[in-house]
Amino acid sequence: MSRKQDTGVSNPSANPTFEAICLQRRRLLKGGGAAIAISAAGIPMSMSFLSGEAAAAPPSSPLVGAISFANIAPSAEDAVRVPPGYVAGVLFAWGDPISDGPAFLQDGSNSAADQALQSGMHHDGMHFFPHWSNVGGLPVASSTSGLLAINHEYTDDGLLHTDGMATWTAAKVLKAQAAHGVSIIEVRLEAGQWRVVRPSRYARRITAYTPIGVSGPAAGKPLLRTTMDPYGTQVLGTINNCANGVTPWGTYLTCEENWNGYFANPSNNLTSLERRYGIDSRGFGYRWHEHDERFNTVLHPNEPHRFGWVVEIDPFDPSAQPVKRTALGRIKHEGATTTLTADNRVVVYMGDDERFEYIYKFVSTGRCDPSSRTGNGKVLDEGTLYVARFNADGSGTWLALVHGQNGLTVANGFADQADILVRTRVAADQAGATKMDRPEWIAVNPHNKDVYCTLTNNSQRGGSGKPGVDAANPRAANIFGHIIRWSELGGDPAALSFQWNLFVQCGDPDLGSTAKAGNIQGEARKFGSPDGLWFDERGVLWIQTDVSTSTLNQGDYTGIGNNQMLAANPVTGEIRRFLTGPKGCEITGVTCTPDLRTLFVNVQHPGEPASERNDPANPKAVSSWPDGAAGGRPRSATVVIRRSDGGIIGT
Ligand code: FEO
Ligand code: CA
Ligand code: CA
Repeated sequence: MSRKQDTGVSNPSANPTFEAICLQRRRLLKGGGAAIAISAAGIPMSMSFLSGEAAAAPPSSPLVGAISFANIAPSAEDAVRVPPGYVAGVLFAWGDPISDGPAFLQDGSNSAADQALQSGMHHDGMHFFPHWSNVGGLPVASSTSGLLAINHEYTDDGLLHTDGMATWTAAKVLKAQAAHGVSIIEVRLEAGQWRVVRPSRYARRITAYTPIGVSGPAAGKPLLRTTMDPYGTQVLGTINNCANGVTPWGTYLTCEENWNGYFANPSNNLTSLERRYGIDSRGFGYRWHEHDERFNTVLHPNEPHRFGWVVEIDPFDPSAQPVKRTALGRIKHEGATTTLTADNRVVVYMGDDERFEYIYKFVSTGRCDPSSRTGNGKVLDEGTLYVARFNADGSGTWLALVHGQNGLTVANGFADQADILVRTRVAADQAGATKMDRPEWIAVNPHNKDVYCTLTNNSQRGGSGKPGVDAANPRAANIFGHIIRWSELGGDPAALSFQWNLFVQCGDPDLGSTAKAGNIQGEARKFGSPDGLWFDERGVLWIQTDVSTSTLNQGDYTGIGNNQMLAANPVTGEIRRFLTGPKGCEITGVTCTPDLRTLFVNVQHPGEPASERNDPANPKAVSSWPDGAAGGRPRSATVVIRRSDGGIIGT
């Protein structure tokens, strides 16, 4: 960010086992006419992907074969560009009805009630949940029908309301709140075109005022109680939903990132905890506290404690209440990427996106049942939260944030485990974690469980009064960012130690032989501010960028073009540019169908900075994407990408 129906397709109440998924994929892909091999890990790979050195690699090697699409050039056009042989189209833009609700009005005059039935603003992380059917006794995941869960990170009120923030009312606050949260929509491929199913019994909006439950060690504790919720177990809303995760049992995780910016302490008599999480007297300018007193921390000092969590949502049950899982800590959650231990405990990797913040992981105490979508309610409530220390010798340590360990004692000011979780950042400070260059998304290689994290940038690294460079964050004034990678000891995601290295330092070799040149391999040559990061099941690593518009096309960033998406081979390090976005956008959020033939990508905040805040006078000054001249204002949107020949994406 900058500021920042019934389809007739059956949906079983439980997900099939992993083994069953592998079997059905074998049938599905063979049936599709593609030559398919199934890896030892059950991963389908086209024969064209098993090429070159990769095919000769020993079976245990992490594998990705050749990435065979043609690298595209950087672009500063107001359009989405993809390689030759690919087509991209808009599926679901801000204001589009989620079901058979009200249509988007190009002048911004939809009401708050309308907005609550339409796509929220500023799409971010998302996931495709396929519908399942039973074919010959085997569960088959559809690649032509399913649900998309989509985060809506924040609002630009200059676009949201007809006259922006020139006047400010309770109704505008309500509309802004309705534009936050998550959309669940039903989508279907018909006659070669993806469309939103309308009406759909699955369609749902979760907003900044949807009732949400609270679970885990901090639920109900005094720090979470408010005058409106004396039991500390029911919160209204989720906000600044940035990146995401998906659980092994098939629920959606949405992550609350820059929630602090919605609160204000007008007295400016800030508490130390408010300061640690960035709450101030004005917030980021959303002005919700002027008409919704929950966001005034003088009146409701505990309300901020109820945000900054990971929220679990069952996308297939519109009546199921989302739940804030407090065992995963309270930070500015970028994402929540899951993997499993050999004995089915769930591990969740999470970044805290701010300069000099930390990387975390949660390891559940109990085992999950991946075959039961609704039967794992408490797995994310009991476990150990760790924070990472990256040592200079390439080793790393996971430090438990557990009361009584690593200095987290009463003597040091930590009352109990709930206190540690509400004040996660303070606990990580005490434990001695490594201050990173803005941890954004985390991705786990499905072939070997290596973990990758984008460290998007940190212009303050090495600055006056700021932490200096270290081995894991080696560049001062790190404006281009880097991607760090680690292997857990023994390949066990629950291990307490790891070995790390730097996968890539981003930059532009045309800047000469300085640190800013970076070390990008392959035809992409140049990009910066890696943010979105995701492995598809072949082991292709997809990278999305978020160079801020205040930086883009200025100074060292000249020549890198608009924000973009790239594909990386984690074995060879080769990186190619796959997509470039419209003007003023960020590319963030990516998911695909099980057959790897449809890719969904989100375009966020096209048109920035003209779209920002208070001035709607000329909303199309920078971008008119996606509606063009006929449109009223630029809109964040989900884009669908297919190959013209229907083939597998990326090969
Ligand atoms: Fe919402 Fe850190 O990106
Ligand atoms: Ca991000
Ligand atoms: Ca970012």
